[in-house]
Amino acid sequence: MTTAAGAGRPIKPAEGKLGVLLPGMGAVATTFIAGVEAIRKGLSRPIGSLTQMGTVRLGKRTENRCPRIADFVRLASLDDVVFGGWDIYRDNAYEAAKKAGVLSEGHLAALRPFLETVKPWPAVFDPSYVKKLQGESVKKGRNKRDLAEQVSADIEGFKKAHGLARLVMIWCGSTEVYREAAEVHATVEKFERGLEESSQDIPPSMIYAYCAIKAGIPYANGAPNLSADVPALIELARKTGVPIGGKDFKTGQTLMKTILAPGFKARLLGMNGWYSTNILGNRDGEVLDDPESFKTKEVSKLGVLEHILQPHLYPDLYGKIHHVVRINYYPPRGDNKEGWDNIDIFGWMGYPMQIKVDFLCRDSILAAPIVLDLALFLDLASRAGMSGIQEWLSFYFKSPMTAPGLYPEHDLFIQLMKLKNTLRHLKGEELITHLGLEYYD
Ligand SMILES: NC(=O)c1ccc[n+]([C@@H]2O[C@H](COP(=O)([O-])OP(=O)(O)OC[C@H]3O[C@@H](n4cnc5c(N)ncnc54)[C@H](O)[C@@H]3O)[C@@H](O)[C@H]2O)c1
Repeated sequence: MTTAAGAGRPIKPAEGKLGVLLPGMGAVATTFIAGVEAIRKGLSRPIGSLTQMGTVRLGKRTENRCPRIADFVRLASLDDVVFGGWDIYRDNAYEAAKKAGVLSEGHLAALRPFLETVKPWPAVFDPSYVKKLQGESVKKGRNKRDLAEQVSADIEGFKKAHGLARLVMIWCGSTEVYREAAEVHATVEKFERGLEESSQDIPPSMIYAYCAIKAGIPYANGAPNLSADVPALIELARKTGVPIGGKDFKTGQTLMKTILAPGFKARLLGMNGWYSTNILGNRDGEVLDDPESFKTKEVSKLGVLEHILQPHLYPDLYGKIHHVVRINYYPPRGDNKEGWDNIDIFGWMGYPMQIKVDFLCRDSILAAPIVLDLALFLDLASRAGMSGIQEWLSFYFKSPMTAPGLYPEHDLFIQLMKLKNTLRHLKGEELITHLGLEYYD
């Protein structure tokens, strides 16, 4: 079944260059940059990217209309994408990618001349928010407002130097320590006073987010720390008409969880417990070895099952789940994480069963296409006049931002349907509900 087509929204064309700003140029960011350049040079294909490889069905199944998403909505071309970013290390994107150890020598050599041109600006950094790292290229300022102004100046300079038409910003920096929203985050006015007074409750990620949103630049947060997910920055995004999204790229183990859990629930199989453990040896793993940064990640990872399984609706099946998540820093594994899951389920008459998943994944390989899709979809949202939290991009996040009082949708398949229906809505196509009765009338 489809619902009535609408008028669609006016969408400004994707003309000119799109600057992608990346606070944090580590494993994920450099794998993203390298991959885009490899695709532009014809060395790779955009595997894992919905904007590049995905299709969207339009109208009835009998109509056989299934264009590529990139042909259906006007997305920026990869040839128009320009990269800029900040890091606490001076390494250019080639050196950073080499240290991250994600890409092969062959890929690195082929992409080296380009990657060497991408050099990070000094970062806004506060070691009390990322305890395992020491900054070597860090901005100094009178107060946090001064630091914000320096970030804004970097953005302006970048825009002029490359003649950019539009910008987006995606936080790919380290996970900051766990903090809940405080008084200084309540309104834009309080936040700006907090910048002036260098409030300890404003971490670096919020300073970058503030600069982006204030300048009309869409912002997404790939890490689990709050960043733009506070009332002040959500309010600012509404005022400046900026689309925002977050938090925490959905890759690896949580991706598997949001694929498997909806299946168990669909068949009403009960669950006693889900034990997840990971070993990883990259810099992200080192940062997450600090209990306070891990706490931010743990909160993000734990929320998923509760929302998918809805124990309040199914107390007999999901009322007593033991859900445990562990991450262990184990350097020999590098960026190639290993995630183990032991799932204790039960079926008819209560008989127990077990499922074991051992996912030998590559974190940054899974995250890079997410960065690309978010950059292009946020740019689309901006050109279509959408502002504030973009729930249709929940598909990409472990802890999707939602309106106050609304629980997040974690089921990957519902998220995908929401995303594609949003694209149909933007273009004035009928929404697809999958009822399908009309084929049998
Ligand atoms: N790879 C994945 O699958 C995945 C999934 C979900 C979330 N994430 C998150 O994405 C982020 C990036 O992951 P990664 O593997 O690239 O980590 P990484 O450690 O390789 O890169 C992070 C970079 O951020 C820099 N940095 C830290 N604080 C900064 C600041 N204030 N300003 C500018 N730069 C700063 C670090 O120096 C580092 O180079 C992490 O927060 C991670 O938790 C990654």
